[in-house]
Amino acid sequence: METQTVSTMPPQNAWLAGDLEIVPLSKHIGAEVKGVDLTNISDDQFEAIHEAWLKHLVLVFRDQDLSDPALISFSARFGELDLAPLDANGRSNAPAHREITVISNVKGSDGKPIGALGAGEAVWHIDMSYNPVPPKGSALYALEVPPAGGETGFLSCYAAFEGLPAELKDRVVSLAIKHDATLNSAGIQRSHLDAVSDLRTSPGAWHPAVHIHPETNRPAIYLGRRKHAYIEGLQVEESERLLDAIWEAGTREEFGWHHSWRKGDLVLWDNRCAMHRRNPFDGSNRRVMHRTQIKGSKPQH
Ligand code: SIN
Repeated sequence: METQTVSTMPPQNAWLAGDLEIVPLSKHIGAEVKGVDLTNISDDQFEAIHEAWLKHLVLVFRDQDLSDPALISFSARFGELDLAPLDANGRSNAPAHREITVISNVKGSDGKPIGALGAGEAVWHIDMSYNPVPPKGSALYALEVPPAGGETGFLSCYAAFEGLPAELKDRVVSLAIKHDATLNSAGIQRSHLDAVSDLRTSPGAWHPAVHIHPETNRPAIYLGRRKHAYIEGLQVEESERLLDAIWEAGTREEFGWHHSWRKGDLVLWDNRCAMHRRNPFDGSNRRVMHRTQIKGSKPQH
């Protein structure tokens, strides 16, 4: 298990979008949006939020009080929502609202987890990139948070691409990567799929290693999860070596920032240009988060 440094930056370069204050949280990614109640936003405020989302990739809204229908209704302003994916055991964990995915370490009265991902580390990933058409964004709302740990890290895939050494950048633009479907980001094997025996034939979705963001037209690296990834057409050893080099250069700490959660935080990320991970936390504490996903389009180079 790996815990990464939680860095903070003093608020600076704040800007106004309509009547909202947007406060950047790190050099490449993340901004806090101040002065908004997400249960009651005007069309102008929504436009300002959308603009800030494209600019900062991840938005943090503090002190929100969102029921599941309110979370669904805010998220749906960005587009049609996905229904919650089945968990690693093939079960739906949010029968009341099929758009809500529960992320939690808490166990119900039947002794089974009420949500996904437990209390361990979740590795860097793009949500659902093991599918041909991953969501364009996700919104994660904190209902209960532990006193320490469980911070969520975000990384700019624009900065990751721009920061690659020139030779690697030239090479990566023509690659396609298979994003493994067998493990979730907590490393748990999905029960309906066999363990990987050959990276060349294992299940997953193919995506360009660099895609063009359909709204900003900026190139972004598109990596998914490291484990069991495979570069099309290469010998497995060569694919592993190249993937290691891309991941090492592309996931430098300076490209990201970690969010320390408070109850009532809503964090909205652009899944097309931001990767995320989560620090582990003490599993004797409760962490309950509700997530929605906005339908996306197939990544294109
Ligand atoms: C996720 O990977 O979608 C969840 C992140 C978190 O639990 O903070």
